[in-house]
Amino acid sequence: MSATSSPDQSRKRVRTRHFAQAKKSGHKITGLTSYDTLTAKIFDNAGIDFLLVGDSAGNTIFGYDSTLPVTVDELIPLTRAVATSVTRAFVIADLPFGSYEESPEQALRTAMRFMKETHAHGVKLEGGVRSESMIRRIVESGIPVMAHVGFTPQSEHGLGGMLVQGRGSDAERVFEDARAVERAGAFAVVLEMVPAELARSITSELSIPTISVGAGPHTDGQLMVWTDFSGLATGRMPTFVKQYANLAQVLGDATREFMSDVHSGKYPTAEHSYTEETARAARD
Ligand code: KIV
Repeated sequence: MSATSSPDQSRKRVRTRHFAQAKKSGHKITGLTSYDTLTAKIFDNAGIDFLLVGDSAGNTIFGYDSTLPVTVDELIPLTRAVATSVTRAFVIADLPFGSYEESPEQALRTAMRFMKETHAHGVKLEGGVRSESMIRRIVESGIPVMAHVGFTPQSEHGLGGMLVQGRGSDAERVFEDARAVERAGAFAVVLEMVPAELARSITSELSIPTISVGAGPHTDGQLMVWTDFSGLATGRMPTFVKQYANLAQVLGDATREFMSDVHSGKYPTAEHSYTEETARAARD
């Protein structure tokens, strides 16, 4: 997706209208999570369409065992780092658990705080029918909302674990959730861990783009958690994760080589040391 909906990765800022155009043209939308300035710049320069500063930071940054403990105060500096580092990608702030469910007013207050303090371009929140009034209130105030239905990690305990949603007779419930967020004015909806055929049906009925996280190939776009797609995260991965690199291996090897160089005296050499001359040049 680009400002012209062609794959040429125009450097123009991605806007919500480009998501709509991509759905019409069939050009697939791509997104990654990001939580810091360095990865945000790399993904933006590569031409990614959107970056989500997800509450998955609970697992990837803060070392929690779920997204539930993540707070607004924890996500604000990460979101600001990402949003102020990109020139093209659309940056989405994830509203953490407990920051929007009480009322449309609470949801709007939290969304406004993210927009004011982080320079994000939109927000994401979880839930379909139950979040309809919150999404509507935020959208009416001029803030773009990406919705999120299917498996919603903040409801992990209510849903009985990390389970595929919308199987068999449960499909209609997920469908209703998707219809509700479209009605409420969301500009796009994440479908997480739903059967591919259900995602195909939702995608063909909805006028807003659908973004898959483990919802198969028939959606309008794909989103991955960056530490999963790059192989920085280790351990058992969900079926839907494809690893495009092995950063854990690269960093582990680099660490061992560094230690070995230090122990053997190969690092640092004169090349990595200051002399009177190079110290003066570095200061001037
Ligand atoms: O927080 C996150 O990274 C997410 C995606 C997995 C959709 O919500």
